[in-house]
Amino acid sequence: EISSSHFYLTSKYIRRILKPRSKFDHKGTYGHALLIAGSYGKIGAAVLSGRALLHAGVGLLTLHIPQCGYSIVQTSLIEAMVDVDAHEHFLTTLPSLDKYTTVGVGPGLGQDALTIKAFGKLLEDFRKPMVIDADGLNILSANRELLRTVSPGSILTPHPKEFERLVGKWSDDFDRLEKQKALAKQLKSVVVLKGAYTSIASPDGMVYFNSTGNPGMATGGTGDVLTGILTGLLAQGYSSVDAAVTGVYLHGLAGDLAAREKGMISLIASDVIDFLPAAFKKAM
Ligand code: APR
Ligand code: MG
Repeated sequence: EISSSHFYLTSKYIRRILKPRSKFDHKGTYGHALLIAGSYGKIGAAVLSGRALLHAGVGLLTLHIPQCGYSIVQTSLIEAMVDVDAHEHFLTTLPSLDKYTTVGVGPGLGQDALTIKAFGKLLEDFRKPMVIDADGLNILSANRELLRTVSPGSILTPHPKEFERLVGKWSDDFDRLEKQKALAKQLKSVVVLKGAYTSIASPDGMVYFNSTGNPGMATGGTGDVLTGILTGLLAQGYSSVDAAVTGVYLHGLAGDLAAREKGMISLIASDVIDFLPAAFKKAM
């Protein structure tokens, strides 16, 4: 604890949040997540997110992807179901949303006009907390009327550039933190500002600073992995704040365990996923 509203995340804090499984749990207990990600040339973002989501403990996973990703996702994520868009290359349509516990949206999505329209409809129709990342955030920044429709309790995961598109330039670290807290309050959502010390702002004014992670994670795809983890935790019924702090901590811890084995230079996003089971075991 740093002050009454600022926390430094410790292993002890995370251990109190993580729930062990009980004997009679079934896959319905752990939710059905819908992941909307990927476009032509960026189907890997959907695969990375989806694989991380599965290892984060979700009950069921369905990916909604453009047609060009169908064989890729069905062969690389055999545990997942696939719902195919009407378009070959990017998101233009949505599946029926009723059966899903939560949604993760954004990695590799692109920003075609039809994608923006479908994304807007998603925000309007799905009123439960969801995870919004990458091009989902960029679409929000460029279409600011959509900000009003973000479901309360959602988790937004901008890196600094995406955050700047959302809130404008900041003068110093304190100003940046104020802008982060203000956005969380405005959207009644959790804002995860990613970086070396990822900060997590809750809508009620709390800020958590992450203690795990390393510069080996500065490699394409690690953000997509985080999106999957957070969506998986939301699907399992963790509150938005608990999902955000636990997911960010575990993502960094998996990166630290991966770096110990592979070294920071060679580490790639898939390695972070490979060490997610070890991170869960260590953190429980
Ligand atoms: N220390 C600790 N963690 C780090 C460090 C570091 N030095 N550098 C990066 N990370 C972590 C961040 O905290 C974050 O969780 O790696 C992740 C990087 O996420 P993104 O910046 O979103 O990168 P990624 O999504 O993998 O990049 C692929 O997608 O979001 C778009 O514009 C983005 O072009 C980029 C693409
Ligand atoms: Mg990213």
